Amino acid sequence: MKKNFKRILYGGDYNPNQWPKEIWDEDIRLFRKAGINSATINVFSWAKIQPSENEYYFDELDEIIEMLSRENYDIVLATSTGALPAWMFKKYPEVARTDFEGHHHKFGQRHNACPNSLVYQKFAGRLAGKLAERYGSNEHVTCWHVNNEYGGECFCENCERAFRVWLKDKYKTMEALNKAWNLEFWGHTVYDWDEIVLPNALSEGIDYERTAFAGMSIDYRRFNSDSMLNNYKMERDAIRSFDPHTLITTNLMGTYKNLDYFKWAKEMDIVSWDSYPAYDTPWSMVAMRHDLMRGLKGQPFMLMEQTPSQQNWQPYNSLKKPGQMRAQSYQTMAHGADTIQFFQLRRSVGACEKFHGAVIEHAGTENTRVFREISRLGEELKALGDRLIGAENIAQVGILFDWDNYWALEYTSGPNKDLKYVDQIHQYYRYFYEKNIPVDMIPADADFSKYKAVIAPVLYMVKDGMKQKLEDYVKNGGILVTGFMSGIVDQSDNVHLGGYPGPLRKLAGIWVEEIDALAVEQSNTLRFKDGTEAECQLLCDIIHLEGAVSLADYTSNFYAASPAVTKNSFGRGTVYYVGTQPEPKALDKVLEQVITLAEVKPVIDEETRLEIACRSIAGKYYYFIMNLTGETLMLPQLFLGKEDILTRNVLTSQTTFAPYDVALVCEE
Ligand code: GLA
Ligand code: ZN
Repeated sequence: MKKNFKRILYGGDYNPNQWPKEIWDEDIRLFRKAGINSATINVFSWAKIQPSENEYYFDELDEIIEMLSRENYDIVLATSTGALPAWMFKKYPEVARTDFEGHHHKFGQRHNACPNSLVYQKFAGRLAGKLAERYGSNEHVTCWHVNNEYGGECFCENCERAFRVWLKDKYKTMEALNKAWNLEFWGHTVYDWDEIVLPNALSEGIDYERTAFAGMSIDYRRFNSDSMLNNYKMERDAIRSFDPHTLITTNLMGTYKNLDYFKWAKEMDIVSWDSYPAYDTPWSMVAMRHDLMRGLKGQPFMLMEQTPSQQNWQPYNSLKKPGQMRAQSYQTMAHGADTIQFFQLRRSVGACEKFHGAVIEHAGTENTRVFREISRLGEELKALGDRLIGAENIAQVGILFDWDNYWALEYTSGPNKDLKYVDQIHQYYRYFYEKNIPVDMIPADADFSKYKAVIAPVLYMVKDGMKQKLEDYVKNGGILVTGFMSGIVDQSDNVHLGGYPGPLRKLAGIWVEEIDALAVEQSNTLRFKDGTEAECQLLCDIIHLEGAVSLADYTSNFYAASPAVTKNSFGRGTVYYVGTQPEPKALDKVLEQVITLAEVKPVIDEETRLEIACRSIAGKYYYFIMNLTGETLMLPQLFLGKEDILTRNVLTSQTTFAPYDVALVCEE
């Protein structure tokens, strides 16, 4: 694997432009002490570097870049287009977005550009080009950061017109479009392209989460994601025309719903993302997001942002406990990060992020707990050098993640409002996480044959080609796990007729005749063939066996004694179908069978509650051993006598892991 960076980038968002110059020298002194070697700059400076339509001012940015270059920093240079200057709104109100409710916005906030405004596009592309022309040849600029956290959506008239063009290109004829969206329903047939309106609160939106015409709303999401991706590509190409070599990225947001990141990643040189778990986010969810970000390109990624200590925008912004930031950083690396970057290097004096943590806190000194922890990590990362950069994570299990399915599943009116895509995927991920079984998060177009097992929960939308792809995979010995709300609709959200799970019916060897929805206070019970019982909730598929065998049956309701979990042989492979949401211990029981049959191995063959993940490069295997539980845990036997390369301590039978303790072991 090619190395992107020559060392682990350790730094983060830095806004010296928000501070008087007297402070800059002090910043640098403190950063040296903390082992900072990188800064992400110019993220929100558009108003400063372009004070009016025809005026550019680069003096201050020149000075910042000179200062950081003198310090031999890896500069991550942003294009500043994530927040528009006020003059642009005043002169060209069309650059502002129109929201879901139909309000056209004024100057304010950030991430506020209409992606289909030609004015915005012109100014953004020009700015990116000017920056690249000026700084692209500086060897210290090691990465371009386009815009910032693309997201949101726009429902303005420009977007409406662009949507029609996008649709015409996709469907060619009105007949095809009417059919795809099933517009005969409620007499919504359209006869001309300009009769099409954007689906928001003024039209098809039932509320923000639901719509009368999911086919249309899903197309709008695809279009909105493409529109923003075009903005990204335009800036990227503007940069490329002056700077042919430097990596170009934009910072993503994990399982963020609005943008189809698998599509985006194809246009990015390296994936970067911002990790902000809440105080109560399970560690398995944090890990899953990292794996998803690695999965986007199947390559290591940049951790563009995390807070050193505290956030400001969550309901409860708990402090990271002593050791937590370090442990969390290593968890990120364990799942594929080649950089550790913070938001931010100095804490804001005003506005809504003044309560957001930073390397330099309001006290302004190095005498803080946070600073000491950052310095310790800085020293360790420096000692690691470049040995881990580009290291691979190897997995035998793939979990399918697909934005079309995300959108479609959550648009459904019925059967159960509590169906949430990411939660469903995470329920399966959690099992593998707890067993220390590495997982790749994979797209619908992945090569399934690389995996011993493919897990595809809530594969609600089965697009063209997927049936064949799954059948080929299983026929050739693959093991597939799927379940309720799978195989229901095609890419336009119209039902695959002929009985659920539609195109997966033969593969799973079952027919789902009806789907019962359970309210939060309701449940059913599963009885496995060995007599063990467990609760199940949310949805209950009523299943007829068509070749499959039942592994567990329901015990109550009118479908008591009918199958809930099934297993089917297909060709040389096997398909498991989980027709309800079992409590974790029951899902574990099913997945236990899956990994046994698939002969999937965990990273180490010992039971432990430590998280252990492995990355390998150049014939070496790096084991990250992390205690993310609240209890002290024992060292697994496998690591007895090995050296922890972070502390240089030899691990012995006396070694224990207190909460947030980490060790890194290297094996040939
Ligand atoms: C996001 C943004 C940053 C900052 C942080 C605060 O990730 O990219 O500019 O606002 O959130 O958590
Ligand atoms: Zn718009």
